[in-house]
Amino acid sequence: MSRIQRCDWDQWWRSAAIYQIYPRSFSDSNGDGIGDLAGVLEKIDYLENLGIDAVWFSPFYPSPQHDTGYDVADYLDINPEYGDLETFDKVLAQLHARGIKAIIDVVPNHSSWDHPLFKQALAAEPGDPARDMYMFRKCSDSTPNNWGSMFGGSAWSKVEPLTGKACDRDWWYLHIFDASQPDFNWENPKVHEFFRSYLRFWLDRGVDGFRVDVAHGLVKDPALPDDTVGPDRLHYEGAESDSGRAPDVGPFYNQPGVHDIYREWRSVLDEYGRDRMLVAEAWVNTPEQEAMYVREDEMSQAFNFSVVNCHWEPAALRKVIRRTQEASASVGAPPTWVLSNHDKVRHATRLGYPTGANTDNGIGATDPQPDQEIGLTRALSATAFLAGLPGSIYLYNGEELGLPEATKLPDDARQDPTWKRSGFRVRGRDGCRVPLPWSNAPGSNFGFSPANSSPAWLPQPDDWGKLSVQMQESDPASPLNFYRKMLSVRRDLGLGMGESSWLDSDPEILALQVTGVDGSKIVVVTNLGVNFRPLPPQALGDTAKTVLTTPGIVSPQASQVGTDGQIAPGQTLWIKI
Ligand code: GLC
Ligand code: CA
Repeated sequence: MSRIQRCDWDQWWRSAAIYQIYPRSFSDSNGDGIGDLAGVLEKIDYLENLGIDAVWFSPFYPSPQHDTGYDVADYLDINPEYGDLETFDKVLAQLHARGIKAIIDVVPNHSSWDHPLFKQALAAEPGDPARDMYMFRKCSDSTPNNWGSMFGGSAWSKVEPLTGKACDRDWWYLHIFDASQPDFNWENPKVHEFFRSYLRFWLDRGVDGFRVDVAHGLVKDPALPDDTVGPDRLHYEGAESDSGRAPDVGPFYNQPGVHDIYREWRSVLDEYGRDRMLVAEAWVNTPEQEAMYVREDEMSQAFNFSVVNCHWEPAALRKVIRRTQEASASVGAPPTWVLSNHDKVRHATRLGYPTGANTDNGIGATDPQPDQEIGLTRALSATAFLAGLPGSIYLYNGEELGLPEATKLPDDARQDPTWKRSGFRVRGRDGCRVPLPWSNAPGSNFGFSPANSSPAWLPQPDDWGKLSVQMQESDPASPLNFYRKMLSVRRDLGLGMGESSWLDSDPEILALQVTGVDGSKIVVVTNLGVNFRPLPPQALGDTAKTVLTTPGIVSPQASQVGTDGQIAPGQTLWIKI
C-alpha cells in the first residue's frame, strides 16, 4: 500500500501516526540557537523516512514567548524568529508532496497581552465593547473571585498597572495561565467570528486540521463562582492528585457550552471536507468525558490523557485502555494513544522511576534521578504496545531517539513561567523541550544548529551527542531504527485501522489480538512484570512469527532466562499468527 493512497483515505487521522514538532526545539537553520521553519524544511527527508503520516506543529505565531508561543500576538502570521508565511507554505507543500498531512495548534482560550485586540481593549475605557473581547471585571476590595492560575498565583491581574488610567483602579482581567495570556470572552459573538475567520485563513492555506489548546477551558461558568479547589492550584491536597497540583476541574473547565463552539467549528471545517480534523487538548478526568468532545458533530479526536497519566501498572492500564476503547467506540471516534508531549516529563524518564512516582512538577538536579536504562526499555515497550492498537498515535519530537528528560537543567536557564510564578518551587516543563541532537558536530548544539552557532535556547546535556540522529542512523539496535521499523510494520499491516479484542492473559501481561485492514492477525503483548511470563496460547501456533520486538529488561529481580513461548519483563512483542 503506498503512502499516497493511504493519505487519500478520507479520514486519515483515524489511524495516523502524528509527530509533534515543537518548532523552537526541532531544527535551527540559521544558527541563532532557536529552531525555525527553514530548519524543518531541511528535515523533510528525515520525517518521511521515519514513516509518520502527519505532523502537528506547536504554535509558530508571532509571540513574546512568555509561554513558548502559547501566547499568540498574531494568529495569522509566523514568528519572525521561525520564518514567514512563504516558508510555511513551502513546508506544507513539501510535506504534502510526501503524503504527510500537517495540523497546526490553535490557541483559542487566550491570546498574548501583545495581541492588538487586547491592546485595543486596554486603550478603551471600562464598558467599551473593545473590552468585551476579554474577561474584565470590576471589584474594589480584592480579586473578583478566588480563581487560581494554572501556573501558580491568582488568575486575576490588575488592569491599572498596564494602562496607568485612574478609571481602571478597581478593574481586573482574567488569565487562567500567565498574566501575559488574557482569556477571551467566549460569550461575545465577535470572539466566535474572529476564530471562524482564523480557521478559514489556515484551511485556505491548506492545513489539514488543528490541535485545539485547552479545549475544555474556553467557556466559564457565567456566575464566576469561587473555585472549590481554592486559590492556589499548585498547593492542592485532594486525594485525586499526588503532585500537589489541582486537577483540571472547577468553574472554568469542561462547561457544557464548550461543545457548541466545536459544533460551530466542525461546520466550518466541513466546508472543506471531513479529511480536515480537530483534535482536543482537553484534560478532563475520564475517558467518558473525553468522548463528549469527539461526538460526530464536534471534534475528530482527543488526546488520551488518561493513558498518559496512568501509572505503568498492568491492572490500572488494562482498565484505562478498555475504558478508552469503549468510550470512543460509543461515539464512533477513534482512540488516540499518547505518551509524551511538550507538557509532560518525557516517558523514557517517567518510566525510569519506581511505579507510582509523580513527576508532574518537573525534575531538577537535586531531585532523585531516574534509572535511564530501565526508563528507555520500558518506554520502547510502552510505545510499541500502544502503537500496535487500532487508533492513532501521537509521537513527540525526540522520543524516536529515546531522548530522556533533561533532568539537570540549570535552574537559571528555565523558561517555563511556572518556575517563577510558583515562587521557584515547581520546576515546570523545560526539561522535555530541550533542542534535539542531530549530530556530534562541534559548535553546532549537537547538529541542532549549523557550525559556530549561538548556544541553544535551552542548554542540552553534555552527553547528548551519543543520542544524536547521526549516531543512531548506523546502529541497527538504536531507538530511531526501532521507531522506523515499528511505524513501517504498523503501516504495512494496517494496524491503526484494525479491530482488536482482548485476550485472557496472565495478570502481569496485557495482550490483544488485532486484525489489520488486510485481515492479518497480530497478537500485541506486553509484559509489565519483573519475571518472564508465558505468552497467551493464541501467540504460540506453528505459523506464529514475531514481527516486532523490544529489548525487555532482565533485571536482578527477574528470573534470568526465558524459554520459548515466554515474554521477557518490560518487553513488547507483535506476533503475527
Ligand atoms: C496547553 C499547552 C501548554 C500551555 C497551555 C496554555 O496546556 O499544551 O503548553 O502552557 O495550554 O496555553
Ligand atoms: Ca533559527
